[in-house]
Amino acid sequence: MTLTQALITAQPQLSKTVERPRLEVELLLAYYLGVDRMYLFTHGDEVLGDAVGYEALVARRAKHEPLEYITGRVSFYDIELFIAPGALIPRPETEILVEKTADIIRQNRLKQIAEIGIGSGAVSIVLARMFPQLRIVASDISEEALAIARKNIKAFGLADRIALHHTSLLDGIEAPIEMIVSNPPYIARDVELEPNVQDFEPHTALFADGEGDALLKKIISLSAERGVWYVACEMGYDQRERISAFVKELGVYSVDFYTDLAGLDRGFVLEELEIRR
Ligand SMILES: C[S@@+](CC[C@H](N)C(=O)[O-])C[C@H]1O[C@@H](n2cnc3c(N)ncnc32)[C@H](O)[C@@H]1O
Repeated sequence: MTLTQALITAQPQLSKTVERPRLEVELLLAYYLGVDRMYLFTHGDEVLGDAVGYEALVARRAKHEPLEYITGRVSFYDIELFIAPGALIPRPETEILVEKTADIIRQNRLKQIAEIGIGSGAVSIVLARMFPQLRIVASDISEEALAIARKNIKAFGLADRIALHHTSLLDGIEAPIEMIVSNPPYIARDVELEPNVQDFEPHTALFADGEGDALLKKIISLSAERGVWYVACEMGYDQRERISAFVKELGVYSVDFYTDLAGLDRGFVLEELEIRR
């Protein structure tokens, strides 16, 4: 079987599971051979000696396993990261959270921020690369996620600027914090997700109590208690009203909501009112 034939044969197996089966079989074959996708187009007549391993990868993907967990790599913002099932696969919409956070860091020359729920490390690593003076303290309740973050942070040479804490929220973290950034779990527990998410990604990264907003509210309260000036969080498309009411009740922040590329509410930035006076 040639490489071209291997692609043609595998494609129908993914047609029910994925949106772009042709692209994904190409990515899987390229990964299997340790080459880039372009190689497949220029070496289409080459014989695929051992097809068994490649077919096994296609079979995993046909059962909804995310491509990123199979290949162990994910692109985020301007970097590529190691990823494994212990951590959420960073999503393109979280790049907006990075940009909102970066705007505030830049405008206010912040030096020390915290990330709650670092996961793979995507957000903190991109921010640390953007701002060479920035220090980040980051937490996660998942040891597996922290191990993945640690590996990525080391790969980018940032271990001296991103400190990891195995803790909930900011418990036990005493460092002064000018801003909190977080993409916390924000999906209500009774929501049924697509199989590639529901069956493969860590539920501690996805689901939260209440209507999914329990942790978001805890982060907001915590920032008020600790006198943190700025907070940027990702949230669910249907959480704006509840978050807005909660912030108003607290009375210490102004709030700006932002939308994602689909025009859905996706997050907010809080600014402590005191610092405006
Ligand atoms: C939606 S994922 C985000 C991961 C990463 N920041 C990103 O944007 O790709 C949420 C992360 O928060 C962590 N988490 C859940 N509850 C937490 C808590 N109480 N304190 C700290 N981290 C928590 C999860 O383990 C998970 O890694």
